Amino acid sequence: MIDPYGRNITYLRLSVTELCDLRCRYCMPAEGVCKKRHEDMLTEDEMVAAVKAAARLGITKIRVTGGEPLVKPNILSICRRVSHVQGIRETVLTTNALRLKELALPLKEAGVRRVNISLDTLDADKYAYITRRGRLEDALAGIGVALSAGFDKVKINAVLIGGFNDSEVPALAELTRVWPVDVRFIELMPMPGNESFGAEAYMPCSEVLKKLPDAVPEEGHDGVARLYRLPGALGNVGLISPLSSHFCAECNRIRLTADGHLKPCLHSAEEICIKGLDEEGVLDAMKKAIAMKPRQHGALSEKEKSLSARAMNRVGG
Ligand code: 5AD
Ligand code: SF4
Repeated sequence: MIDPYGRNITYLRLSVTELCDLRCRYCMPAEGVCKKRHEDMLTEDEMVAAVKAAARLGITKIRVTGGEPLVKPNILSICRRVSHVQGIRETVLTTNALRLKELALPLKEAGVRRVNISLDTLDADKYAYITRRGRLEDALAGIGVALSAGFDKVKINAVLIGGFNDSEVPALAELTRVWPVDVRFIELMPMPGNESFGAEAYMPCSEVLKKLPDAVPEEGHDGVARLYRLPGALGNVGLISPLSSHFCAECNRIRLTADGHLKPCLHSAEEICIKGLDEEGVLDAMKKAIAMKPRQHGALSEKEKSLSARAMNRVGG
């Protein structure tokens, strides 16, 4: 469906849970999330009905996200059913990789074509710090299994945090020379719940290029990422700049939260609840959500926070 600003909405980000086995400082409060009542969350059938409605409106790509989608006990069934909905051409998933050791192959078999893996640092102490509890070796083991599972592509997402991992830009980018992966740097977004980052943390992606003098621009772009390549690399380096150059003009997505709220824009407070609606009801709600998509979101910076009413784990990263 085409929105009021001429954008063709083809991409739904489906958050299947707010829960996570990590507590990344930019995403979640330290105490985790207050666990919701089961009946307030979408059921698997409601998620599938929502995807069917979305496909009828021209959505072709679903990103399964969270929280951490792999903590959801029925994740394989969700992926299998979503990827088989008529009209859905690509089912992809975002994960912290901790459970990929067991789940990479079953996910592939369930129809997941690609995975995006969050990895902000290659230093075990810093990994434990930023995730407040994770072990780097578990994430690396998960990435290793994902690489041999036969996905069309594996991407690594690093949130660029000045004073934390900017010194690791060359080492993270170097992964594209040893593994067939894309490594994407994402500017830190000021979301509710991550107010503790100081001004130095909000670093533009242009700083990444300064640290990669050999990087050569690639033709085209991958979704919202501008692409570069290191000589001899197996994959691309991508830059995602929600702060320094927002990509609202090309925005083709809507979001559905695990508690059943459609979000026309990540950074606005507007939501439409679909909990309890059947496929026809969801279809109407989705048309409304797409019609409500703002032309662009407000400025984002250390001082100008997202107007989202939700921390990232409750929207879907
Ligand atoms: N800024 C930028 N990206 C974020 N993510 C979560 N919170 C933020 C934030 N505040 C993204 C990261 C992470 C994924 C789950 O969501 O890419 O890897
Ligand atoms: Fe969990 Fe991903 Fe959020 Fe980290 S960024 S707390 S891994 S959902």
